[in-house]
Amino acid sequence: MKLPAPLCRKLERAARTAAKASYSPYSKFRVGAAILAGSGKIYIGTNVENASYGLCNCAERTAIFTAVAAGEDTVKAVAVYTPTRTATLPCGACRQVINEFGPAALVISVCDQPDRIETTLECLLPAAFGPQNLLHRRKA
Ligand code: THU
Repeated sequence: MKLPAPLCRKLERAARTAAKASYSPYSKFRVGAAILAGSGKIYIGTNVENASYGLCNCAERTAIFTAVAAGEDTVKAVAVYTPTRTATLPCGACRQVINEFGPAALVISVCDQPDRIETTLECLLPAAFGPQNLLHRRKA
């Protein structure tokens, strides 16, 4: 799926803005994400770190969990901003979480330079394990 250019720019801007609220005293790596949800609304998230490092939450997951908490169940697109010279794609854990709500989602990465990546979740996480793999359990 390709987004209309103005909507794409809006999503990217939202991701850049979200990074300003980053709580990243340990990595000092301020990440922002914006989700285009099924309703058409945009939800933002940022990375939230913890003194117990393993509890750090990525920007993408913060945005998706916020969207789900607001009643959304579909992710159409994810934009992520990293403070880097080249565009950075979501980590493996975030790919798995995106897959849960948007197996066909568009993924856009932007950074501090013109470099950008536009791809799909299917490209980033082929043959993903997802809700369909547990369907037989729901029937029981
Ligand atoms: N981070 C994200 O927010 N998203 C990613 O896709 C990769 C990493 C965060 C987690 C941590 O707070 C910091 O970046 C350094 O890994």
